[in-house]
Amino acid sequence: MLTVAMPKGRIFSEAIALLKKAGYDLPADLEDSRKLMIDVPDEQLRFILAKPMDVATYVEHGVADVGIAGKDVMLEEERDVYEILDLNISKCYLAVAGLPNSQVHDVAPRVATKYPNIASTYFREQGEQVEIIKLNGSVELAPLIGLAERIVDIVSTGRTLKENGLVELERIVEVTSRFIVNPVSYRLKNKAIDEMVERLSHVIERKGTSDEN
Ligand code: PRP
Repeated sequence: MLTVAMPKGRIFSEAIALLKKAGYDLPADLEDSRKLMIDVPDEQLRFILAKPMDVATYVEHGVADVGIAGKDVMLEEERDVYEILDLNISKCYLAVAGLPNSQVHDVAPRVATKYPNIASTYFREQGEQVEIIKLNGSVELAPLIGLAERIVDIVSTGRTLKENGLVELERIVEVTSRFIVNPVSYRLKNKAIDEMVERLSHVIERKGTSDEN
């Protein structure tokens, strides 16, 4: 039995679709369920449904053998897991955004973000001094109510920025979902994990990706 940590929320349906495409026979109601642990005995799989930011934690601690995690999560927190495959789903990017015509050259502007490590590394590399304010969501609110001059957040369709009157200022890094593996599981359940990697790699859409990341 392989335990697979899946990210709840917007990545979930794309990840399930990819597994189905790879030939896994999964229950039709998987996406509607409120259950957090779902066994699929015919495929010898157990799914655990975690918050996207927590997937790598479950895999690192070995309570999940493998998982699907965004590159954003992998960059934010260094984890002792193998990143085996770029699944090329849930494509988006991390960007710096703010109000249009805002003074971006303030001394130590405040930057609100769910990604304090990525943001501080980015601004340090740019030689800019900023004050990071950690939020857990709805980050686009921060410039609107004067909590921060800028934000670092995920942009997918760009709709959230647009509807809140914000503009993208700098693009930081492209993000896709990755297949990650616990190092001990990789040794002990090598055959089952390799089979999953093999099946997934056959159905990954390669178009428009670089294989370098
Ligand atoms: C993410 C992200 C942006 C939004 C971007 O938030 O943090 O707010 O999606 O998507 P868009 O470019 O298609 O509008 P999410 O919906 O995951 O919720 P959160 O704000 O609670 O983190």
